Amino acid sequence: MVLVKTVITYGTFDLFHIGHLNILRRLRGLGDRLVVGVSTDEFNAVKGKRPVVPFNQRIDIVSSIKFVDEAFPECTWEQKRADFERFGASIFGMGDDWNGKFNHFSDKVEVVYLTRTDGISTTELKRVLSAFDERHVDELKRTLDSIGQIVKELS
Ligand code: CTP
Repeated sequence: MVLVKTVITYGTFDLFHIGHLNILRRLRGLGDRLVVGVSTDEFNAVKGKRPVVPFNQRIDIVSSIKFVDEAFPECTWEQKRADFERFGASIFGMGDDWNGKFNHFSDKVEVVYLTRTDGISTTELKRVLSAFDERHVDELKRTLDSIGQIVKELS
């Protein structure tokens, strides 16, 4: 009998970026099959996050990545043990922002934390994009106008 080593991971994968691709590539390299739980919009609300890209698009993107064999919805914190069973997972991997948080699953799977890719995150992308937000552009214009006014008064 050939034993297939299945790796499992979870995430929101909003505004899919190179950090996401890197971790999926590295996780797939740890086994023969990678299955990925993609957090639904409702579960993100529970976590206090509001994804920019809706769930059906995020899961479509993740399942199209060549390192991913299957993607499924992550709807609750509690579903993990049932997922490990359902997919026959033997390795559970996450980025090291989760360091130590899932050690209690070590009775069921090997828990690994991989170093995150430096300098990129969805939060950072949202921050950069918000600079183009109309409100911010208006604020910037008002600030520049008042600087212009001060310069005029001083000259
Ligand atoms: N990840 C990573 N390197 C990054 C960003 C994310 O390895 N630079 C990993 C996370 O550690 C996690 C997976 O990618 O295991 C999915 O993370 P997710 O929370 O969806 O992405 P983030 O960019 O971390 O999103 P946020 O800023 O909203 O937390």
